[in-house]
Amino acid sequence: MFAALIALQPMKPYNFYAGPAILPEEVLQKAQDAIKNFAGTGLSILEISHRSKEFVKVMDEARALVKELMQLNDEREVLFMHGGGLSQFHTVPMNLLNEDETASYFDTGTWAHGAVEEAKLFGNVHIACSSADKNYTYVPKSFSVAPNSKYLHITTNNTIYGTQLNLTPNPSPVGEGSNYFQGLTCPLVADMSSDIFSRELDYNQFDLIYAAAQKNAGAAGVTIVVVNKNILGTVKRKIPRMLNYRLHIEKESMLNTPSVFAVYVSYLTLQWIKKEGIKNIEVRNKRKAEKLYNAIDASALFEGTVNKEDRSVMNVCFRLNDTALEEKFVAFCKERNIVGIKGHRTVGGFRASMYNALPEEAVDVLAEAVKEFEQAF
Ligand SMILES: Cc1ncc(COP(=O)(O)O)c(C=O)c1O
Repeated sequence: MFAALIALQPMKPYNFYAGPAILPEEVLQKAQDAIKNFAGTGLSILEISHRSKEFVKVMDEARALVKELMQLNDEREVLFMHGGGLSQFHTVPMNLLNEDETASYFDTGTWAHGAVEEAKLFGNVHIACSSADKNYTYVPKSFSVAPNSKYLHITTNNTIYGTQLNLTPNPSPVGEGSNYFQGLTCPLVADMSSDIFSRELDYNQFDLIYAAAQKNAGAAGVTIVVVNKNILGTVKRKIPRMLNYRLHIEKESMLNTPSVFAVYVSYLTLQWIKKEGIKNIEVRNKRKAEKLYNAIDASALFEGTVNKEDRSVMNVCFRLNDTALEEKFVAFCKERNIVGIKGHRTVGGFRASMYNALPEEAVDVLAEAVKEFEQAF
């Protein structure tokens, strides 16, 4: 009887959604358990005070885990904030940029461009480099920073277009490829919403990192912020409390009621990342990406949409040469239990998001579908 029940469970689809996105099974299981009984309290995590010692422990440990995983120095503070990645587009300049000052920005995609537009509400913006001329299909190889730039803002992975900045842990000189940022004299700010914890990096090279959690770091509803406290406190304007990094640091991410459940899911995800090891995750991510890109490159029907050397390991964007076949491919994938591969509504085509928690098996199935589709059509 029990075996028969298991057999009736539908198989979980291979999940390539761009975010909210796949989470590790054990995270889902533990989150589910906590909805019934959180930390042995007999209460659901949804109905317990954020000031309870059980939840304060979760918040403290989650912040400590970010510090540990990124090997952050003591100048860096970790915050869990509200408002998603988008809210950081205004929170960053509000805390760092005076009206008469200039910040430099990489314009490498829709989100990067969104950050530029918001920063203009607070001060001057200098475009350090842009790939808008070729519809954001590459990452510029050189850039300029405005004199006295207050900071330089980059987007490490461009989720919609599928390009990623190649940031190696060991910096090489400016202009020689992989690490552009050595020798930079202003603070470096990074939107890592779609590739945080996907690879080993020198995270201390950034003075501010932010990432909406719903791709590699948990569920929607919480944003991880890492900030070098030395860069704060130089703006003249009054900052609303909810947007003030210094206040959030002082209140240890408990300025108001945090997104309790989302923080808990992040905490579980961080534990999972620690158990897996970032290096192992990085190796697996690269292998997954290689498998899919190889299948696309080997096919006469499909093609990758971005410059090969700038291809993202997280979001693989591709298209069919014959767009009339698009719906057929989506249906073909659906038959193979693959979901979430439609490209962003603004660019079309296909996008397979392959975040940390996506099992390699899912990529094998999609790569096989790419091959079989060619034989079928
Ligand atoms: C790189 C990047 N930045 C910012 C955002 C916006 O995040 P949110 O929807 O949480 O505001 C996204 C969303 O996908 C993103 O990919």
